[in-house]
Amino acid sequence: MTVSATASSDGFLYDRVSQHLLELVAAGTLKPGDRAPSLRGLSRQLNVSISTVSQAYNRLQDMGVLRVKPQSGYYVDGSIAATSAQAVQRRTSVSRQPRKVRFGELFEEIFSVANDPSVVPFGAAVPAVELMPVKGMVRATQRALTRRPEQAVNYCFPPGDVELRREIARRYVPLGVAVDPDNVIITSGCSEALALSLQTVTRRGDIVAVESPTYFSVLRLIERMGLLAVEIDSDPQTGICLDALQTAIDTMEIKAVVGVLNFSNPLGSVMPDSHKERLVAMLEQAGIPLIEDDIYGDLHFGEQRPAIAKRYERKGQVLTCASFSKTVAPGYRIGWVIADRYRDELIEWKQATSSAMCSLPQAAMAEYLRSGEYERHLVRLRNAYRSQVEKMRFMLGRVMPPTTRITNPQGGFVLWLELPRGVDAIELMHRALQEHISLTPGMLFSATRKFRNFIRINCGHPWSSRIEDAVERLGVLTHELLSAG
Ligand SMILES: Cc1ncc(COP(=O)(O)O)c(C=O)c1O
Repeated sequence: MTVSATASSDGFLYDRVSQHLLELVAAGTLKPGDRAPSLRGLSRQLNVSISTVSQAYNRLQDMGVLRVKPQSGYYVDGSIAATSAQAVQRRTSVSRQPRKVRFGELFEEIFSVANDPSVVPFGAAVPAVELMPVKGMVRATQRALTRRPEQAVNYCFPPGDVELRREIARRYVPLGVAVDPDNVIITSGCSEALALSLQTVTRRGDIVAVESPTYFSVLRLIERMGLLAVEIDSDPQTGICLDALQTAIDTMEIKAVVGVLNFSNPLGSVMPDSHKERLVAMLEQAGIPLIEDDIYGDLHFGEQRPAIAKRYERKGQVLTCASFSKTVAPGYRIGWVIADRYRDELIEWKQATSSAMCSLPQAAMAEYLRSGEYERHLVRLRNAYRSQVEKMRFMLGRVMPPTTRITNPQGGFVLWLELPRGVDAIELMHRALQEHISLTPGMLFSATRKFRNFIRINCGHPWSSRIEDAVERLGVLTHELLSAG
């Protein structure tokens, strides 16, 4: 908003200053408890007198929007949380008119509410913060700062922190994979690991084979990079169908395959080890690199962690990507690629795009892994995810229409639901968002816009009556859509 300095009366001006503040609060830019801009600062910013701002602030105080703390300034009142909740509701209002679905818009809707505490978080695959080892990471960060204070403030160039790369490489020993720390490249989350891998092994116009359904960010990357996706059907238990992939390889020039082989997103499927071996052999024979995304590999419900495809390679053509985002701290953005023969080119891409990476989170993660806390934390986390997934599955089975089908994953923390035909998942998403419940519509997991009556449900949050109520509501809304359709 711009406030004209030539406006004729102070009354007019202070009204507009109040309005400016109200807009900031309604949009959530200023939240309850936040300090409001100082009188002097706002008067300079809006080019009005201090007394005009002061008048506006007095009025906002009378309205209960601001309160004054002596010798400290003005603060947004803690009791106006409802204003920001309304902002969410407004953004997600239901249109009864048919409309073209724009994917960018859908992503924005899903991610804009991912961290909104007023929305029940069934949408983005984001784990609850209370399940993350917050204290352990604080201690590890403090140790990192004490041990390596200079390094923490300095540039850290690719391939990244050597201590962290060693700790990551060590974790592959029990999986029977000898990883050279020099071939581990630290990235900003698994997202960047996937992007750099694709950049390294493909050129604009190339064809990339993906699972169907597949993790939507892979489809977005493919689209943004000017690549073409060929979708290969995936089995809810065993993942990508190898015969179908072979046919695709025989009939088109595929330049890369991307897959989440362990606890895929959204199916939760795990490719059996014998299939992984066959997959790698097939791709080596055809000279096609495999980008395996193993972000969920540590989150197995059974005793045994599933193998990674890299274990079966002979030619170094598997790029293994992963991160600690689903296990330790998504905010630290620590991901990696084991790039082997693609190492140098991948590092060039990394240098070209981001030059260096955050030093302190890497040093902290290295400390955390070295302390042995990660393994203990994983035991608790896997138990929590298993119980949350089981409860959610049970409850959804109870409240959803009887023909609904639900996956039964043995790891990770998402469920994939096939709703009765005729239930439009996007409509369901909009109706649920009106009630402050998020979910992800199935269409996002396909380049060809399949899965219109499918949804993905995040089970990354501990069970509570709030979650239970939201599941009940989801059931009611689905029944309503079914009978309306
Ligand atoms: C399969 C898969 N790969 C990658 C990512 C992105 O991970 P990160 O947050 O580490 O970038 C996600 C996040 O949902 C995911 O589900």
